[in-house]
Amino acid sequence: MSHQILSFGQPQLKGTISVPGDKSISHRAVMFGSLAKGKTTITNFLAGEDCLSTIAAFQAMGVAIEREEDRVVIESNGVEELVEPIEPINLGNSGTTARLLLGILAGLPYHFTLYGDGSLSKRPMDRIANPLREMGAVIDGRDNGRLLPMSVRGGKLKSIDFKPPVKSAQIKSGVLLAGLLAEGETTVQEKTKTRDHTENMLKAFGADIKVDGTTVRIKGKTPLHSCDIEVPGDISSAAFFLVAAAIIPGSEVMIENVGLNPTRTGIIDVLQMMGAAIEVTETKVIGGELIGNIRVTASELRPATIEGEIIPRIIDEIPIIALLATQAEGETVIKDAEELRFKETDRIESVVTTLTKLGARITGTEDGMIVHGKTALHGGVTDSFGDHRIGMMIAIASLLIDEKIELHDAACIAVSYPNFFEHLHTLITR
Ligand code: S3P
Repeated sequence: MSHQILSFGQPQLKGTISVPGDKSISHRAVMFGSLAKGKTTITNFLAGEDCLSTIAAFQAMGVAIEREEDRVVIESNGVEELVEPIEPINLGNSGTTARLLLGILAGLPYHFTLYGDGSLSKRPMDRIANPLREMGAVIDGRDNGRLLPMSVRGGKLKSIDFKPPVKSAQIKSGVLLAGLLAEGETTVQEKTKTRDHTENMLKAFGADIKVDGTTVRIKGKTPLHSCDIEVPGDISSAAFFLVAAAIIPGSEVMIENVGLNPTRTGIIDVLQMMGAAIEVTETKVIGGELIGNIRVTASELRPATIEGEIIPRIIDEIPIIALLATQAEGETVIKDAEELRFKETDRIESVVTTLTKLGARITGTEDGMIVHGKTALHGGVTDSFGDHRIGMMIAIASLLIDEKIELHDAACIAVSYPNFFEHLHTLITR
């Protein structure tokens, strides 16, 4: 457990940075590169702990994966040549590794044991295990097969038509990956569109996959071919500095080469809705994903009601949006975000507890929160609760105040943004 004293003396943030590679895309690049025959090179890979768990899982299945900083080279003989791992697979803190990997393992003729850290062991796995069972995999686990540790006996799968009961890209992706290894055509029909990196990248790797609105179809048994991937900067990491620039008087920050996939850019829409001065420039497409530069300048903010279709597009940004709302004059309401209860922590509870401790006027609801701004926050003793995004929200909050904040367990920030504090120091000016 690492303690950190956060005391920056109310600086301004100024300058330009590039945030690390996108977490969702980095995971998928390793997974699909391991399933494809040939050599896949990934550049700007996010070397955060979560994505390293994905690399280790495929190494345990015999795939040759070499990493040097943010460059990963995978040489695979294809899905047919994966081997049964000798030891249980450790998923660490990574929900994405767990849900997507379960989809892949379900289609392999082996036995696997999976486990994770304390937080991951509390997160629901039945949402992915149930459709995979329907496809033919034998999956068991703690709490009547609902939680990690879990065992999987994979093998021959049949296709399904699946309507996910929850808004989750991980569940959509896990079923599509099982569909890739199954006989016939698998369909996933979502109510609300979630991030579509799996669909985009599987297409680039040669899968027979079709998207029609919120319905995705994949034909099983199509072999993947290797494909080089350049990972865009992670907009979910950029979000911390975009919000910081918006709320810290006198700030101006530019983040370069950020992924702008429309299923992920809800934070830009929220900042615009709340009156932030935000500009997107230099857009281009790399490897099927739109990227560009985002500049934010501090300004007066107004409150917003944030609900419905936008929620999956900001699901990881809600902790930092809650902090943003504390600095907007009036009442901001966040609804339809019940999925927050199933993240690395129950993020409705952890956000409300933390911001209340720092002086915010915030109330949790069943599916979101209500924030009354504008409030002058104060110092205090806080805990990330082992949740990287709570840790980073606290660090950004500390920039607003003169007093110090003590942050317990800052180390978990390395899950998604290992050089977060280094970037923060680069931007601090007085
Ligand atoms: C992710 C999907 C989201 C998100 C997570 C990454 C992905 O989770 O919160 O950080 O890479 O597919 P859910 O699918 O549980 O909403």
